[in-house]
Amino acid sequence: MLRVCVIGMGPIGNRHADIYCEDALSELVGVCDVIPQRADAAAQRLVEDPRGSSPQGGKGKVRAFYDAGEMLAELKPDLCSVTTGGYEYGSDHFTPTMQALEAGCHVLGEKPISNEISQAEMMVARAREKALCYGINLNHRFTPAARLAKQWQDEGRLGHLLFINMSMWIMNPAESSPYYHIKALHPHTVDVMRHFCGDVEAVQCFATKAPGRSIWSTAQFNLRFKNGVVGSLTGSYDIERGHPMERCEVAGTKGRFVIEDMWREATLYPAGNLEKTVYTNPVFGGMRDFTDTFRNRIHRFLEQVSQGASPDEIDGSGADGLAAQKVLAAAIESLETETVVYVQP
Ligand SMILES: NC(=O)c1ccc[n+]([C@@H]2O[C@H](COP(=O)([O-])OP(=O)(O)OC[C@H]3O[C@@H](n4cnc5c(N)ncnc54)[C@H](O)[C@@H]3O)[C@@H](O)[C@H]2O)c1
Repeated sequence: MLRVCVIGMGPIGNRHADIYCEDALSELVGVCDVIPQRADAAAQRLVEDPRGSSPQGGKGKVRAFYDAGEMLAELKPDLCSVTTGGYEYGSDHFTPTMQALEAGCHVLGEKPISNEISQAEMMVARAREKALCYGINLNHRFTPAARLAKQWQDEGRLGHLLFINMSMWIMNPAESSPYYHIKALHPHTVDVMRHFCGDVEAVQCFATKAPGRSIWSTAQFNLRFKNGVVGSLTGSYDIERGHPMERCEVAGTKGRFVIEDMWREATLYPAGNLEKTVYTNPVFGGMRDFTDTFRNRIHRFLEQVSQGASPDEIDGSGADGLAAQKVLAAAIESLETETVVYVQP
């Protein structure tokens, strides 16, 4: 069983902590926040109100810390989640990630890997130098529907890949930076696109501001992938949840699939054949809600680390998080300059 700590006890850190308590591969030993009340409240909740299925439930093992360095030195965990946020939801990841890597921990960081490419590059490089596993919570691809779609693709049922259309929208009224929506929401969509179509070569982006907003809260991206696939991505922070919020369509010469909400339904439309194949998330035994994307993603990281996977085998790695952020940096440059921008290698 891996001994785990979580750094950054906002809503997302608490969600990671709950999942580490439930998962049979992990034992949560410490939580940390620079806001003492947040660390204390999380530790108290995890000890006093253990989840029913928790293998360690109620044993009082989760300790609260207000300083990540102190926690790492005292508890010496095998693995850490870094669930801090900050400016553009990513500026606070760097320091605790580097601290955890220096302490010899495998790290699962939240997305965006960082709001600064240079910091993301340093984290990925440091993990590589230390031969530690570094994953990012790119949870949208860790679903049975996405797995099945990938299987269809690997079986050759799409033929030669031609195009991808991706979209995702939620309501997020925060106005922290002009590029907040692009940098903080689209690590997910770009990762899903890269998952199916590989590296992106060039990007062009237009964006708009919804009434009353000062940030680029809705955006449209055109992409060309290195393998010649062409793609489009539409995203928004302006639309209330309720109806489906995410869609991924990938097409090739032999067939096309569409995934609705990344977990609810996947449909394969074979070219020249009137019969389609539909996977629908079942009521029993399927994914219960969006939190299951976190459960699946975290379990996969625990599984890979437990099995001794090498750092470059990690699904949804730091390198994947960095590659997505470089695509978004190119999109921002395109938006500013009204040009097609090549993604930095
Ligand atoms: N994967 C997803 O689907 C998903 C969904 C929502 C949010 N997120 C990501 O999760 C992250 C956290 O989101 P949140 O809403 O919980 O944020 P939040 O701001 O509410 O919580 C972050 C916490 O980290 C603490 N913190 C910052 N620096 C610290 C440090 N060095 N040591 C210890 N504690 C520190 C802060 O005090 C704060 O309590 C963000 O990066 C966000 O982008 C991911």
